Amino acid sequence: MKLFVTGGAGFIGSNFIRYWLSAHPDDVVMNIDLLTYAGNLENLHDVAQNPRYAFVRADVADASAMKTHMAGADVVVHFAAESHVDRSIMDAAPFMRTNVLGTQVMLDTARSLGVQTYIQVSTDEVFGDLPPDPQKKFSEVSPFAPSSPYAASKAAGDHLAHAYFRTYGFPAIVTHCGNNVGPYQFPEKFIPLAIVNALAGKKIPVYGDGLQSRSWIHVDDHVRALDAVIMRGRAGETYVIGGEEKTNRDILHAILRLLGKGDDLISFVEDRPGHDRRYAINDEKIRNELGWRPQYSHAEALEKTVAWYRGHSKWLQHVMDASYQEYYTRQYGARAVAGNR
Ligand code: NAD
Ligand code: DAU
Repeated sequence: MKLFVTGGAGFIGSNFIRYWLSAHPDDVVMNIDLLTYAGNLENLHDVAQNPRYAFVRADVADASAMKTHMAGADVVVHFAAESHVDRSIMDAAPFMRTNVLGTQVMLDTARSLGVQTYIQVSTDEVFGDLPPDPQKKFSEVSPFAPSSPYAASKAAGDHLAHAYFRTYGFPAIVTHCGNNVGPYQFPEKFIPLAIVNALAGKKIPVYGDGLQSRSWIHVDDHVRALDAVIMRGRAGETYVIGGEEKTNRDILHAILRLLGKGDDLISFVEDRPGHDRRYAINDEKIRNELGWRPQYSHAEALEKTVAWYRGHSKWLQHVMDASYQEYYTRQYGARAVAGNR
């Protein structure tokens, strides 16, 4: 099969591509990524020379580029997005452009080319937040009630994917996963930020009371769930993908313990506007229908991730001094764009 993967230089996309090339030795993967601040080709340094892998720098909202490069693809896996909630609160515009317009371009292009499997990789954030009752969890039938501009932009893209199935019979599938933890995540997100700051002996900002909870999953388990959806998922369906519910405080204490650091590094700061209190996921459907199971407990996932960041100081250094943005220039000979775009 030929896979057309968008956003493959980001956190989840790069883990997905590495996994797919190894687990599916007859398949070829094309990675399309604009290389915004969040795109880092060093995430894929070990597969860059693989003859079954190709990279093209392009914008998912560029219809002509998508048409050229998607031709011949059997499967489209659409990861590319603006993904950070705090950035969406500061400026929603790039989120609307990439997550809404970009998704419409992807759907139109894939439909016109007759793509047989299209995966819209989405998030549990589209469902808003849950009350404290532990019996209440998100599932495939939960209504969309996004709280942040990021979540609203993802919800719009997901609605489009469902509408293309209903209107045109286009074989889109939407997945909603919880919070991922694992290697190669940009340290603006909570877990890598906490690890990086703790390693440097710097304070770690905790929003509000730190008792917000999320459903945490190792990125490898998410990627394996996507494999199950691509191979056995049904067109037009939704699958939620869950992990273990933990509060931000629980996570921070565990990270500080793993790094042998004290609680004096915790700094409670002003809460995120519109901050969702609780996410939890009932993922019986993907377990029962597609036979997927997570392989890592949350404790294992966190331990593995902390060890990875400790062992990859060069990767981290290049992210912190922004030199990762020069990797494209070195590899492909064109000018890499610094800043947000
Ligand atoms: P990320 O920010 O690490 O990576 C996003 C990638 O998309 C980057 O490589 C970036 O360069 C690229 N990109 C951005 N705009 C683009 C454009 N216009 N054209 C082409 N490429 C563009 O994000 P992530 O955490 O890996 O998330 C990937 C997807 O998974 C997103 O759709 C996100 O909504 C979803 N998701 C993330 C999580 C999580 O915990 N991180 C959980 C559930 C779902
Ligand atoms: O639920 C899936 C979502 O998980 C994905 O769709 C998003 O792309 C991804 O960024 C993530 O969103 P969150 O907002 O949950 O992740 P973030 O790492 O930004 O924050 C996790 C929790 O930690 C959240 O409750 C806010 C809190 N937080 C975050 C940061 C960056 C802090 O307390 N301090 C911080 O500095």
